[in-house]
Amino acid sequence: MSTPSLLILPGDGIGPEVMTEVRKIIDWFGAKRDLAFDVTEDLVGGAAYDAHGAPLSDETMEKAQQADAVLLGAVGGPKYDVLDFSLKPERGLLRLRKEMDLYANLRPAQCFDALADFSSLKRDVVAGLDIMIVRELTSGSYFGEPRGIFTEGNERVGINTQRYTESEIARVARSAFELAKRRGNKVCSMEKANVMESGVLWREVVQKVHDEEYPDVELSHMYADAGGMQLCRWPKQFDVIVTDNLFGDLLSDVAAMLTGSLGMLPSASLGAPMANGRPKALYEPVHGSAPDIAGQGKANPIACILSFAMALRYSFDEGAEADRLEKAVESVLADGKRTADLMQAEGGTPVSTSEMGDAIVAALDASL
Ligand code: NAD
Ligand code: IPM
Ligand code: MN
Repeated sequence: MSTPSLLILPGDGIGPEVMTEVRKIIDWFGAKRDLAFDVTEDLVGGAAYDAHGAPLSDETMEKAQQADAVLLGAVGGPKYDVLDFSLKPERGLLRLRKEMDLYANLRPAQCFDALADFSSLKRDVVAGLDIMIVRELTSGSYFGEPRGIFTEGNERVGINTQRYTESEIARVARSAFELAKRRGNKVCSMEKANVMESGVLWREVVQKVHDEEYPDVELSHMYADAGGMQLCRWPKQFDVIVTDNLFGDLLSDVAAMLTGSLGMLPSASLGAPMANGRPKALYEPVHGSAPDIAGQGKANPIACILSFAMALRYSFDEGAEADRLEKAVESVLADGKRTADLMQAEGGTPVSTSEMGDAIVAALDASL
């Protein structure tokens, strides 16, 4: 088989900083595990706007469509807040998700034992936590029409529309059930069927897919507000959570804090299989461009590095190598290495972004 292609889009803020560390990891797999990738780098977000006047050029979009996998850092920054909505860095990311039809966004939240005392929740609430949030990513209120800011009488009105078709719900539900079969065999679906018609349809369709195709997977339903509360109260009751685009955005940030830091959470956005059998895929950390710490060497690269581990697992069928990388991260944390986001106010000296990357490479070496 030919060398798989990987399109790297570092983006803005801490995006390029954490991506530099991922490049070290990619190089390591090439040199030490004979896992070579044909890597191309390009611009997205504010960086693309600065170069081309648009947050994603048509050429970059086409490269993303052709790539075996895309790895993205982060987009956005205060400098771009004044731009017209259509030119904002975030639109570049949303275009990638929509045009690649990446409907299933997998956001795992795993608590590494070494960080269990660092979570804002008690150790026994989070220790050993391993949940997977499956967020619908190409529809719902992020994309529904009508949308916009309109004038109505003598004032303006801002409109976004929550919209889901049965097929959009069914396909992401299937992704969740398939994942659950390989994990704890449990799915909890979250919506607001008590107040939203789209939530009523969501619940009905998820139940139907379950009854007809996955009767052996345990399914429960929960209102999304209660789901947020339960995630903080006793997160280990969950295995796979499936939810819509907006609720998934909120609930995955909540889940991030269970693991200790937003700087720890990777994600995979998957679409339908391509001709070569691989799913269309984009991998990115859950966090943003962190303008408050950008350029200071403080960013935690682990979320982005673990996103590459997800690429190894879901795009390249290299589950054992993904395990190797995740174990390397775990051992570095067990050794006490911490970037600043993983330190209590009173504790020790943090390592820099590049020191964390180097330590993970050293742990990979030690794994051989
Ligand atoms: P953010 O995730 O950038 O930052 C939130 C907080 O978490 C900040 O205090 C930041 O310093 C910290 N943080 C985030 N990632 C970290 C890391 N790897 N290491 C250490 N600390 C980290 O969210 P925000 O401040 O709400 O948004 C900033 C910009 O990023 C906005 O323009 C937003 O639209 C964008 N954003 C982009 C993405 C993405 O590209 N996928 C995701 C979220 C936000
Ligand atoms: C995320 C981000 C994005 C979202 C933004 C930057 C478009 O918050 O990936 O979680 O809202 O989906
Ligand atoms: Mn978000």
